Amino acid sequence: MSSQRVLTGITTTGTPHIGNYLGAIKPAIEASEKPNSDSFFFLADYHALIKCHDPERVARSTREIAATWLALGLDTNKATFYRQTDVPEITELTWILTCMCSKGLMNRAHAYKASVDANRDAGKEDLDDGVSMGLFSYPILMAADILMFNAHKIPVGKDQIQHIEMARDIAGKFNHSFEELFVLPEAQVDEQTQLIPGLDGRKMSKSYDNTIPLFCSTDELRRLINQIKTDLREPGEPKDADSSTLFQLYNLFASSNESLKMRQAFENGIAWGEAKRELFEFLDSKLSAPRERYNLLMNDMAEVEMTLLRGAEKARAEAAPLMDKVRIATGIRPLTYVAPVSKKETSKQKELSDEELARIDEGRRRAILRQVQPLIDQVEAANDSKSAAQTLLSQKQTELESLKKKAKVKAENELEALKIELARFL
Ligand code: TRP
Repeated sequence: MSSQRVLTGITTTGTPHIGNYLGAIKPAIEASEKPNSDSFFFLADYHALIKCHDPERVARSTREIAATWLALGLDTNKATFYRQTDVPEITELTWILTCMCSKGLMNRAHAYKASVDANRDAGKEDLDDGVSMGLFSYPILMAADILMFNAHKIPVGKDQIQHIEMARDIAGKFNHSFEELFVLPEAQVDEQTQLIPGLDGRKMSKSYDNTIPLFCSTDELRRLINQIKTDLREPGEPKDADSSTLFQLYNLFASSNESLKMRQAFENGIAWGEAKRELFEFLDSKLSAPRERYNLLMNDMAEVEMTLLRGAEKARAEAAPLMDKVRIATGIRPLTYVAPVSKKETSKQKELSDEELARIDEGRRRAILRQVQPLIDQVEAANDSKSAAQTLLSQKQTELESLKKKAKVKAENELEALKIELARFL
């Protein structure tokens, strides 16, 4: 069995934080290291324009996210790592898929519906206020990201499951209307890594402003960890590890042994200040090597750019031939294009049974008969049907001789049919 292709993208609007790392980047890199893996990871920079119209921020985020994947050790010889906008076939496919997607499907997209609901709640008359066509139809761009590479598994957060289902719908519509060119993708949701707590204990997310940037400086890391919410338990009082953000973050980076030790420290009543110091030192030691690589890469954008361009070349080697097939399937073709005789058609003819051939023959005979039926009727109605039949047949025979190739064959077939039908009068 051929290996399952895994593909995922990250929108370039923010600075990668610990939640992104644990929830998406780390598992993706680990999966890409398995022997039979086939991974496609990309920077979804066109997606950034949907929500963010700050060019500096989009450009900075693109640099940061690219450097992050590389600093964490992604092997770009094994995985295909590229920037969405370096593969123009994706936007080309987006248009074709846009034409295969009903507007009703997009009306049901969560992101769009959330905007409409917000407008309704705010009492706005225009429920589409502030909704760009980009926001409205972005699941189609996402479908193109996925279908362009015929990916099977799409690791995403829960909020993205609907988009993968839409990609399936759109792929199915294309396959049905034109040609079976697209794999139907499936979402892959890792329940375990879903909840990475942020500074306030809620899910770590840019929108809650509670994140710890993955590669912030040592001082910044210390400062942020000191902000993590704790309760009023005194030093010496046993503390519940599982409900503590400090422990949860520690646990996410720790081996089972390290984790057990920390759990014991909590049971033994470690002071919150002490627990924060432990967490800081632990994270700082885990992150310092990749942080150093990250800082080097951030100062060597030419190198990162080159890596991305090489990745795009690999990606386009897959995308361009499929895009050619897609265009041809829809009728967007060179004027001189001639469809190759497909193997399927020739083998179909070979496989016809005698019975099927007889049926086709019978159909042809009846079509000819319909043509000559008025003549037969005339013969039948004549006083002397026998001589009428003879006259008709000799007339047809004479006519036939003066005819050219194609018309002659037709006339011959008709004469054959007449002879059979008129035999009863002769
Ligand atoms: N929309 C996704 C997000 O916000 C990012 C993304 C864009 C993506 N294209 C994709 C994820 C294709 C998986 C596959 O998280």
